[in-house]
Amino acid sequence: MSKTNVAVFVSGSGTNLQAVIDSGIESANIAVVACDTPGVMAIERARKHGIPVELVDSRDFESREEFERQIVAKIDRYDIGLVVLAGFMRILTPYFLGRFANRIINIHPSLLPSFPGTNSVRQALDYGVKQTGCTVHFVREEVDAGPIILQAVVPVTEEDTEETLLEKVHAEEHRILPEAIRLFCEGKLTLSGRKVLISF
Ligand code: GRF
Repeated sequence: MSKTNVAVFVSGSGTNLQAVIDSGIESANIAVVACDTPGVMAIERARKHGIPVELVDSRDFESREEFERQIVAKIDRYDIGLVVLAGFMRILTPYFLGRFANRIINIHPSLLPSFPGTNSVRQALDYGVKQTGCTVHFVREEVDAGPIILQAVVPVTEEDTEETLLEKVHAEEHRILPEAIRLFCEGKLTLSGRKVLISF
């Protein structure tokens, strides 16, 4: 099976990166991990598995686009077919979105369009929803608003704290992110307007 070269973008602990690595998707080659924050655990995870890391410290750049141009220059030599944002804490500009049009996906810890932005698990808990979950979606300029690829539901109990709920949401993220990558790399996703059609 031919493999799609995947760049995983991270800013933090990298548990989703780990799940993608561990799931050993046949149609995907994790070619590079791109990171904007020195010293984070995700870098260690990549190195442990022999995956090249391209670190570009966002603090060294005056604009978002300058930062992105630097990161694109670094990942360009890996012939990337898919960019996966796995806890990457930066909003992308039209420059980057155009450079990888319809080839950028993100994992978000809520059932979008509910609770976009940051602290989504806390927001869901405070709102009192009975179910939350996570979403993998294509990335568009508007934050957390792109076409939805996969979602998973997590029931909220009265005993849940932010910590316990986060743990349950993460477990589902670690299941659906590799699945979405597999579907993309096997060519099973088709965009139709803002809908994603999946051929299983
Ligand atoms: C995840 O909850 C993801 O949904 C959000 O950032 C978090 C990243 O966690 N975008 P990790 O770095 O993969 O552990």
